[in-house]
Amino acid sequence: MLTWDDEVTTLSQISTDRGAHAAPQSAAASTTQGAAMQAGAAAAVTTVPGARRMNATDKRIINGKTDVNQLVPFKYQWAWNKYLASCANHWMPQEINMTRDIALWRDPHGLTEDERRIVKRNLGFFVTADSLAANNIVLGTYRHVTAPECRQFLLRQAFEEAIHTHAYQYIVESLGLDEGEIFNAYNEIPSIRDKDEFLIPFIDVIMNPAFNTGTPLADQTLLKSLIVFACLMEGLFFYVGFAQILALGRQNKMTGAAEQYQYILRDESMHCNFGIDLVNTIKLENPHLWTSAFRDEIEALFREAVALEYRYAEDTMPRGVLGMNASMFKGYLRYIANRRASQIGLEALFPNEENPFPWMSEMIDLKKERNFFETRVIEYQSGGALAWD
Ligand SMILES: [Fe+2]
Ligand SMILES: [Fe+2]
Repeated sequence: MLTWDDEVTTLSQISTDRGAHAAPQSAAASTTQGAAMQAGAAAAVTTVPGARRMNATDKRIINGKTDVNQLVPFKYQWAWNKYLASCANHWMPQEINMTRDIALWRDPHGLTEDERRIVKRNLGFFVTADSLAANNIVLGTYRHVTAPECRQFLLRQAFEEAIHTHAYQYIVESLGLDEGEIFNAYNEIPSIRDKDEFLIPFIDVIMNPAFNTGTPLADQTLLKSLIVFACLMEGLFFYVGFAQILALGRQNKMTGAAEQYQYILRDESMHCNFGIDLVNTIKLENPHLWTSAFRDEIEALFREAVALEYRYAEDTMPRGVLGMNASMFKGYLRYIANRRASQIGLEALFPNEENPFPWMSEMIDLKKERNFFETRVIEYQSGGALAWD
């Protein structure tokens, strides 16, 4: 094996040989020059002048000055743990059998008009929502986060958003829905458009190439976008849709779609919790950002988001369906908003709200080995499952 010393010797030997070809030298001069070069080469390769090893305590979530290419030493172990947990939950849409859904959808008596409306509205929101989420991560958040273990999670999250968009597209294709109608719903259906119009300015501002953190105002702008994305988009705007499709699944209808949503809900729950940890760590590292004016602004955004999601509930459920109605969602959304607010250190906005859908919590706690809808379960393996021939 070539050792470090061998390599230095070899390099100096080559240099000496080149010198011998270039001009005749005395043996003594050559030996002296060789020794000097050997010493110089050893010094140069051992330590680059000015090089400094990274200290984990110097890492910061935003405005960090440490090398973003060095994952370890870890400072934010929670981010790495969430990255590992997300990888362990890997799944793909094609693994889920859609045969029963297709038969039910084609059967003129399979679903009521209200149930069909729920499915179409749902997909109308989600087919573009997860593309918005992916773009927000890749083109916005990622650039501003300077902790590599958090970036590692964001890379995994971005791939999961691609899987979610794939899952919604796969359902649209399986059911033979009108793609133009579904993919344009975010431009054409007011209750969907209003939610996206609320979100898009918070995504656009951090995606703007001219936007950089580093001032209190810019850092608050980023923090606000992170809160909107984690607590209000992934943590609130997804929940009427998730509850509706999972309620269909609980009645043994659209079980393939419901299973896809169940996996997505598990992923989104992780994204939401990661985003909340990110927000809380930025707050700890930059307490000057958490002013009372800023908190007031965030609370107003929470109230606006609850109103928008409630309007979406009313639009998707003009009548009671699946044992649910829009007014039940008023309580559910307030309950979720309280929880998100307390998770980032705000007072409950709507005190004393109860969860009208406790079964949703069980859905989030899906274990890979136990599948609620009893279809296929895949265990992902790495390393041992690889074959090279
Ligand atoms: Fe997603
Ligand atoms: Fe997400």
